[in-house]
Amino acid sequence: MPSTDFLVIGSGVAGLSYALKVATSCPGRQVTVVTKSDEGESNTKYAQGGIAIVTNTVDSFEQHLQDTLTAGDGLCDETVAKFVVNEGPRRLEELIKVGVPFDKDRQGKFDLGREGGHVMNRVVHHKDVTGLAIEKALLKAVRHQQNVQVLPHHFAIDLVTEHHLQGDGIPRDEGTTCYGAYVLDETTGKIKTYTSKITLLASGGAGQVYGHTTNPAIATGDGVAMAYRAKAKINSMEFVQFHPTALYQPGASPAFLISEAVRGFGAKLKTRGGEAFMHKYDRRGELASRDIVAKAIDSELKRSGEECVYLDCRHMDIKRFKAHFPTIYEKCYSLGINVEEDRIPVVPAAHYMCGGIQVDHRGRTTIKRLFACGECAYTGLHGANRLASNSLLEAVVFADRCYKMGIKEIGTIGDLPPVPRWDDQGTTTPKEKVLISHNKNELQAVMRDYVGIVRSNERLSRAYNRLALLYKETEVLYQRNTLSPQLCELRNLIAVGYLIVKQSLQRKENRGSFWNIDLAAC
Ligand code: FAD
Ligand code: SIN
Repeated sequence: MPSTDFLVIGSGVAGLSYALKVATSCPGRQVTVVTKSDEGESNTKYAQGGIAIVTNTVDSFEQHLQDTLTAGDGLCDETVAKFVVNEGPRRLEELIKVGVPFDKDRQGKFDLGREGGHVMNRVVHHKDVTGLAIEKALLKAVRHQQNVQVLPHHFAIDLVTEHHLQGDGIPRDEGTTCYGAYVLDETTGKIKTYTSKITLLASGGAGQVYGHTTNPAIATGDGVAMAYRAKAKINSMEFVQFHPTALYQPGASPAFLISEAVRGFGAKLKTRGGEAFMHKYDRRGELASRDIVAKAIDSELKRSGEECVYLDCRHMDIKRFKAHFPTIYEKCYSLGINVEEDRIPVVPAAHYMCGGIQVDHRGRTTIKRLFACGECAYTGLHGANRLASNSLLEAVVFADRCYKMGIKEIGTIGDLPPVPRWDDQGTTTPKEKVLISHNKNELQAVMRDYVGIVRSNERLSRAYNRLALLYKETEVLYQRNTLSPQLCELRNLIAVGYLIVKQSLQRKENRGSFWNIDLAAC
């Protein structure tokens, strides 16, 4: 039974930043990072726009804070927002130190992008592949650390908590402690028990719960579902952020993102007929916050019956465009869209989970010795709608806070109690794996049709009833069959869908990214 001091579930920006820090400051401790795909595969890898951080005196912490609170539509935790914004510059220094090449202008100042909801240019970036640059640099640094083991293709199935020790299988509501996780080693097909003194969930988002998403295939909400099963508190799941401008390319999964920074650069949203429309919805036009732009596009599409709207970049300096957005330019070009002459067809797509596992200011969940940070955590920063490019910032700030609390706490933890092995007696190889993919497709259709940008009581209760049936069928598959990542992901996606629907039904006023036509605007 493998045992470790710090178990980290996930190798995106949150998990890797944390692993690097605990490993560096505790050279005598073992850090194990399990990650379900290749070690670099993550939402982080696809981040385009960059990180929102105050880097000069034209800007101010007060203004960044204000923009965050405005985007969050009254539901941000102001204390959290304040410290996240204030700690940004120190975390940026650390990323630079590990080798992230943020772009600078000729004067050596950061080249700052602009995105929706920001009143000024504030987003540090590396071209339009900021996330990839961060992921690469962190992985390289982590690999140099002797006491970190990164295990790709290791799928965390469930957390080990007290109820496993007591053997009655019933999670406790209060006071549970986490002792690690059951992990499926995909190369051997064996489920191992990883015991750990401290466990960090850094498992990212859940965009895959909607078929149409900018998130890669790994984003199946596993961490939220595991924490929910272990009875951790899960908060604000009704706030799903839809990005306004995913490339319209039917059938492509994930949907390729056209960064909001492109609108920050001057691109205009237009109907098929060439009419600009954002000014009708918000005085900030294309740079209104994401919830407003996504809703505006949804409304235009419903009115016109068209399948997409268009981003018009033709009036822009294309040489500069190419230098800032080489990947976007190339992707469009490869599909026959020459940004210089053609408009880019775009639609909204599920993008970011504002809710998640509730944590305190130190990243502690409601389960002892279990921390969470990054997209799977609910810290209170985003409120009802995340300000663009605040999530990479949140991930590095909270990874730092989890690390500081973790190294303090670990000194107080003695030997771990014996933990039972995973029991897979009585399970059989599934006869028809296709049933798993059928249920996943059905779930995604339900979420897309009934739990999208604009919801209603009737749509939500339909979704609730359909999810109940999918849940029952999937539990039967789960109990009877040998586990596979696909089956575990389906089970997790259903749990996440259920939480989104349930918390949507509980919400009694519209705010930010949550819109139910049966409720009044706040
Ligand atoms: P991730 O980076 O998603 O990492 C999660 C890790 O957990 C992965 O390694 C995954 O394989 C692993 N994992 C998941 N489940 C399991 C399991 N069961 N067992 C083992 N491992 C598991 N934010 C910004 O601030 N600025 C941007 O410019 C920006 N652009 C974006 C563009 C795109 C296309 C997307 C999709 C998101 C963007 N975001 C952006 C959001 C941001 O990228 C994410 O919120 C952030 O990277 C999340 O980091 P994370 O470490 O929490 O999760
Ligand atoms: C983008 O580049 O538009 C994505 C930014 C984000 O999700 O914060």
